[in-house]
This record gives sequence, structure tokens and C-alpha cells, in this order.
Amino acid sequence: MSEKKFKRYTVTSALPYANGPLHIGHLAGCYIPSDIYVRYLRSMDRDVAYVCGSDEHGVAITIKAKNEGVSPQEIVDRYHELMKASFQEFGISFNHYSRTSAAIHHETAGQLFKDLYDKGEFVEQQTEQYFDEEAGQFLADRYIEGTCPKCGYEKAYGDQCEKCGSSLSPTELINPKSKLSGNSPILKETKHWFLDLGRYAGFLKKWILEDHKDDWKNNVLGQCRSWLEAGDGLQPRSMTRDMDWGIPVPLPEAAGKVLYVWFDAPIGYISSTKEWAREKGIDWEPYWKDKETKLVHFIGKDNIVFHCITFPAILKTHGDFIIPENVPANEFLNLEGDKISTSRNWAVWLHEYLADFPGKQDVLRYVLTANAPETKDNDFTWKDFQARNNSELVAIYGNFVNRAVVLTHKYFEGKIPHPGALSSYDLEVLQEMAEFPRRISQSLERFRFREALSFVMDLARLGNKYLAEMEPWKEIKKDEVRTGTILNVALQIAASLAVVSEPFLPFTAAKLREAMDLADAKWKDAGRQDLLPSGQALSDPGLLFEKVEDDAIDAQIEKLLNTKRKNEVEAAQAVPMKEIIVYDDFVKLDMRIVQVLEAEPVKKSKKLLKLTVETGLGRRTVLSGVAEHFSPEELIGKQVVMLLNLAPRKMVGIDSEGMILMAEDADGSLKLLQPHRHVKPGSVIS
Ligand code: MF3
Ligand code: ZN
Repeated sequence: MSEKKFKRYTVTSALPYANGPLHIGHLAGCYIPSDIYVRYLRSMDRDVAYVCGSDEHGVAITIKAKNEGVSPQEIVDRYHELMKASFQEFGISFNHYSRTSAAIHHETAGQLFKDLYDKGEFVEQQTEQYFDEEAGQFLADRYIEGTCPKCGYEKAYGDQCEKCGSSLSPTELINPKSKLSGNSPILKETKHWFLDLGRYAGFLKKWILEDHKDDWKNNVLGQCRSWLEAGDGLQPRSMTRDMDWGIPVPLPEAAGKVLYVWFDAPIGYISSTKEWAREKGIDWEPYWKDKETKLVHFIGKDNIVFHCITFPAILKTHGDFIIPENVPANEFLNLEGDKISTSRNWAVWLHEYLADFPGKQDVLRYVLTANAPETKDNDFTWKDFQARNNSELVAIYGNFVNRAVVLTHKYFEGKIPHPGALSSYDLEVLQEMAEFPRRISQSLERFRFREALSFVMDLARLGNKYLAEMEPWKEIKKDEVRTGTILNVALQIAASLAVVSEPFLPFTAAKLREAMDLADAKWKDAGRQDLLPSGQALSDPGLLFEKVEDDAIDAQIEKLLNTKRKNEVEAAQAVPMKEIIVYDDFVKLDMRIVQVLEAEPVKKSKKLLKLTVETGLGRRTVLSGVAEHFSPEELIGKQVVMLLNLAPRKMVGIDSEGMILMAEDADGSLKLLQPHRHVKPGSVIS
């Protein structure tokens, strides 16, 4: 680990696309970790600029707009506000939250492109790209659909087949179609500006794989290595696109072209810093240009190449800027075993969480940190959420603080009792307490947030154990002075806990700080055994955490099950329609509701069940090929649909007098068709 001291910090977290609301995957991926880190730095009295903003360009936005039939501006305006509010509600304490449609960003990104252009960093290339003649525009990869050359799936995108997972280029698609007009696109020449990343490979290899081999996370180093050591080297990447939504390429010959979203978005960190500094009346430049500034990018794993290869190459070759000291990327968070997906609505949306669990921001922050996808993908489950709330936050943290506060009110009129003579055990416990801040710092400085949080909880455990062993509720009957000492020690632990848990649980810590009058306490004060002066009033912080009951959890699980069912229905590809028939054909079918009276297996067949049904016109025997889907018991008593006038057929020696109708699911399983209320057997279906 580099021990270098830095004068100031610039901390960024990925600019989220303004094309949907925020969910737990966003929080867990990079916003909670960065917020913890920054809150800790501030408590250490470090100079920090913590910046972010909405990523408002790119195809994701234009597709969303097109799907909804509104302008891209309307989409980004809507989600920019929603995301900004969600961040605020969850205590993500950006110094500044900007947006890439801001004028200052257009200027900054355009200028940076121009600077690189003037230095001759771009390679101009004519390529052929798909063009929709009717729509009069070039087609981004996602605007082209066709048959996957690998698996034959007919709705593969120009860059990827979602069925078999292959990554594709648009020209590989068989029978490509424009999603704008539905027509076959033509290939047309277009000019673009490429960054020849190969030029920077030497620098990148040394910087990442040598200089940072010991302080960057393994998952990040691993991805960088596979990019930098790939057989065919780093490929040139186009930094411009043929689109009408984005930042115009600042060259006279580039009409109708915009900067590639991954060129402009990271520059958003700089623009956001500029906007912040301007509002504050300070100079932005040291935060991006002074070598004594530590730049740290928090991101999710899908952003690694852009933050470790492309953006640093741009900053470095430009010449004016510092490059990141670290890029602590997280892996992905899944939800109940499935990949989080905005389009499939498979997510816990932050605004919905808040509506269902008002005031419980810290619980989510806690669970997402304790279970963060720091080194590998992880799973969020509601059962785990409940267990961590009930048996960790309530039973350990909340219980400890609550006991210390309540007993102080009960025995000492809510004033911090005076510490009498300390026993050797007291001293031992205080000594142990004093070691926590440094231990937690060490984990935080290495971006090990789960570990840091587990130490915070260990401090609460220490307090709990101390109270359990000292039993002040018994001691009070023997020795009031000693009881005061015990509670003093316990409250000092609670005060330190308030300080060191603040980065993780800011709302809870704020309540505690207020109750204990700890407004000015900083990290360096944590661990002190006289953090709370005796005699000082202690107010009641109220209940810090409360139990989450089963029904609240069941409701969340039910909500997800509904989503799953809905998605299954939508995903099922129905078989093609049969030939058209006329009404006279239809009325020939005599379909009725019948009641199953008996059902039994058929000796010579694994597939058939023999059913006796009441048809309203008398009993009949029907053979039905459902033995692999239903047990006889499941059918007895059910009302089902039957085709009554099908000519009798003999099978395995039995006459079948009609046919039971069922629905076949996409996976081939059979489902009963039943009237939604009981009807008279023989009721006609028409
Ligand atoms: N919008 C991108 C995403 O959600 C992240 C952009 S990060 C930045 O994946 F560096 F470009 F800002
Ligand atoms: Zn495929």
C-alpha cells in the first residue's frame, strides 16, 4: 500500500444513465461505498470533492424516448430529478450532483476533444455503417435487429444476442432490420475519430500492472490484465457517433455527429467539479491537476475498461490532468438469485423501498454494505434483509445503545454519570474500544467496506457484552457509584460507536450525536474514554431500529413473484396462429364444462389417466394424456373443459368418449382450464 500523503481528494461515482429510477444494484455497486469513504474522509478533516451527476447522452436514452414516444430531453429531465432526490433521501452526500446536458459540460467535453484533436491524438477513419434511408440516419448498434448467426435467434441486437449471449457486430446479423422504420438498412460510408489505445498500452501496463499491482482490487486488476494482455492488443475505439442526441463534435466537417457517450460522460466528473467550485467560489483546478490530489473512481464492474483504460489514457495524453490513484470497482448485486434488470422490472426500486419502509434508509445501507459484491457477485434476498435487521441492527447495535440510554435515565436522571475508580476489566474494555477507530480506518483506506462494517458491529458487541457481564441493573441495588462507572464506560463506547458508524449509518449516527451532544466529534475523537463529559445531559435518541416482521417481508417476496409471473407471460413465444376458419366451423365444436368424478391410472400406459366425468347429459369415460402432469387426486372434483362431440376412439382397449382440453405452457407443462366459479356440469362454452 502506498503510504503517500495527499493534500486533497477527488472522489467520483459513476454517472448513472438518466433512463430509469435507481435501484439497490446502483446503491450497492458504487454509491454507498463512495459515500462511506467520503464521510470517513470528512471525519478525518480531509479536503474532499465528491462529485457525480446524471449521464444524459447515449443510445439507452434515445431508445427509451422512442419507446415512450417522447423527446430524449423529456426522459432525462424526469429521471435526473428522480435520481437526484433518491440519492439525497438515502444520504449519499455528494458535494455536487450535476448533469451532462449542462452547458458547462458541453463546453468542457467539447474543449477536451478539441485539445486532443489539435494534438493529433485521433485517427480519422472512413467506415461503412448501416443507414436507414427512410429515417435518414445512421443506426446505432441497438437500433438494428436481425437473426443471430450463432444461434438463429431472430431478435438479436446489432451488438449482442440476448439469447445465446454472443457479442456481435451489426454486419454479422443475418437479415438486419432497422428498428426505426422496419426496413433493411443499407451500408453507407461515414467518417469517425478513433483513439488509438494501442499507443498508450506501454504506459497503461506500467501504471496499472506494476505501480498499482498491490493496492488495486484483484477483480479490477484481473479485468485490466485481460484487456492489456489480449493477443491482438488494445484496439482503436471510435470517440464519435452518427447521432443527433449528444454533444456535437466540435469540427466543421462533423455536422450531424456527436461525441461518443463514453468519451463525454467521465468528463462529467470534471464539469461537475467545476460547477461545484464555481458555486462555492473556489478554484476547481487543484482537484484535477495537482499531483497531491488523490483521485478515486467508484464504479461497477461493467465500467472498468472505461475508467482504467480509456479515460486515464485521455487524461494522461492531454497532459494537464492527474489520473486515478485507485478504481475500486464492485462486482454485481443480484436479486433473489436473478440478475437485476430495469427492463424486466427485476429490482428493488429506491423510491418504492422508501414508500414501503419509511425512515429505514440505514437498514438498506447496512444490508447492502454487509453483503456488498466487493470481490464477487452477491445476492440480495429479503430473508437476509430481515435477518440482518433483526439479529444485527436491532439485537446488537440498537439493543446496546438502548440499554445504556434507558438505564442512565432510570438511575441517573439522564445525566452522564461520573466515572469512579476503573476496574482492570473496565480498563481492558476501554483499551479494546480505543483500538477500533484505527482498525476501521485501515479497512476503509483499503476499500474493504464489509470488513470495516463488521468491525463497527464488533464495537457494538463489545458494549453489549460489557453490559451483560457488569449487570448494572443488579449492581444498582448494591453500589450506586460502581453502577455509574459501568454506565459511563458503556456510554463512552456508545459515543465512539456514534462516530465510527456515521459513514455507514448516517441517519442513526445523527440521532445519537444529537442525543449525546456530540456535534463536533471527529474520527480522531473516537476511542477516547472521556468523549462524553460526566454531568452532561443525555436525551433520548428514540428507537434506533425496529424489528421487521414476516408479513412485510412476505409482501416484498410476493411482489417479486408477481413480476416473475408477468415476465414469463411476456417472454413466452406463442406458437403461430392456425389457418382462419369460418363461424360455421366453430359452432360444430361442442365444448362443455364437465366435472371429474373419478380418475385412475391406466395399466398399460404411463401417459394416460382414465377419467369418469359428469357431462350434465350423463356420465362418460374419457382418456386423457395427463398422467405425467397430474396425479388422479389432483383432478378428482375439478371442473374442466371437454370437447363433447369428438367421435369416440379406442385406446389401450378402452373407449374414450370425448377429449379434455388443457393449456400447454411454454415449457410443455399442462395447466387445467377451469371456470372461475363453479358452474353446472354441461354448461356450454360458446
Ligand atoms: N452511465 C454509465 C452506466 O450507468 C456510467 C458512466 S460513468 C462515467 O454504466 F464515467 F461515464 F461517468
Ligand atoms: Zn444467438
